[in-house]
Amino acid sequence: MRFFNTEGPVRPDMHYCLPPLYRWDLGEVLQLIEQQKYFLLHAPRQTGKTSCLLALMAHLNGEGRYRAVYANLEIAQTAREDVPRGMRAVCGAIASAADLYLSEERLFDWTDALWPGYGADGVLNGLLKRWSRESPQPLVLLLDEVDALVGDTLISLLRQLRAGYTQRPEAFPSTVVLCGVRDLRDYRIHASSEASPITGGSAFNIKAKSLRLGDFDAAEVATLLGQHTAETGQAFAPEALARVWELTRGQPWLVNALAYEACFEIREGRERTRPIDVGLIDRAKFSGPHVQDRMSSSLSCAG
Ligand SMILES: Nc1ncnc2c1ncn2[C@@H]1O[C@H](COP(=O)(O)OP(=O)(O)O)[C@@H](O)[C@H]1O
Ligand SMILES: [Mg+2]
Repeated sequence: MRFFNTEGPVRPDMHYCLPPLYRWDLGEVLQLIEQQKYFLLHAPRQTGKTSCLLALMAHLNGEGRYRAVYANLEIAQTAREDVPRGMRAVCGAIASAADLYLSEERLFDWTDALWPGYGADGVLNGLLKRWSRESPQPLVLLLDEVDALVGDTLISLLRQLRAGYTQRPEAFPSTVVLCGVRDLRDYRIHASSEASPITGGSAFNIKAKSLRLGDFDAAEVATLLGQHTAETGQAFAPEALARVWELTRGQPWLVNALAYEACFEIREGRERTRPIDVGLIDRAKFSGPHVQDRMSSSLSCAG
C-alpha cells in the first residue's frame, strides 16, 4: 500500500509520486551531460530536488555509459572556515557515496594517500582526478546541499572543482551538478581568505546553466492525488481537488502533507468508501503537523 510521503525524497515503490525524472526537462539534462557541462539545480526546500538527483543517478547507472554518484555535502557545514575539516567531510561524503552506490571502496584509501601531497586545498581535486582515471566510464557527480557549506570551505570546494574542469573527462568528472536552494550567483561567501564577500558566480565561472525545479501545476496535483484513488478506490471530490490547489499552489511537500493528513490521519478520511470532500481538506489544513506554518510561509514566498 503506497502513501503520500512527507519525509525526504520519494521512493516510487513506496510513495505516490510523479516520476521524478520527468519533472524537469530530461532531454536538456541529458544533453548537458553529453556535452560534459557543469551545471546547477536549485529550488526552495522540499520541492523534489533530491528525488530528481537520485532518479538521475539510477537512470545513468542503469544505462551504463556513465558512472553516476549522488553525495550530500551538508555534513561539511559545521567546518565553516576550517578547510581541512571541511575537505575531510566532503571527501568522506563522496567516498561513502561511491561505496554505497557503486561498491567502490577505494576512495577512502586514496584520500588518505593523497592528503600529504595535495593538502586540504587540493585533496578533493586529487581524489576526483584519481577516481576519474581509474574509472572505465566518465564520472557524473551529483552534489547535493552545496550551499549548506559556508566561507572558505565553500570557496575551496568551488575552486578545486574549477581547477580540474579542463582535465575532464579523462582525469576529472565529465559532469558535476551542484544542487541547493540558491542559484550560484546568489551565494555570497564571506570567507576569511577574501577581503570582501565574493559571489558563487565569480568563484565558479565554469557553470554552463542553472536549472530551477518548479512546483506542480494543477494537472500534476490531480495526477498525484489520482494515484490514491486508483489504488484505493477513494475519490477526491472536485471541490476538494480545487481546495488542495488553492491552499498549496502546487508546492510539492504541502500537497503531500495535506493529502496524507486527509487520507491517512483523520479517522473519517481513512474510510476508503467515503470520498475526500472539501471539509476534510480544510480539517487537514489545521491538524497536520506544521502544515499551517508551511502554508503561510511558502505562499507568502510564492506571492
Ligand atoms: N516526484 C515527486 N512526486 C510527489 N511528491 C514529491 C516528488 N518529489 C518531491 N515530492 C515531495 O517533496 C518532498 C521533498 O522531496 P525532496 O526530494 O527531499 O525535495 P528537496 O530535495 O527539494 O528538499 C517529498 O517528501 C514529497 O512530499
Ligand atoms: Mg534535498
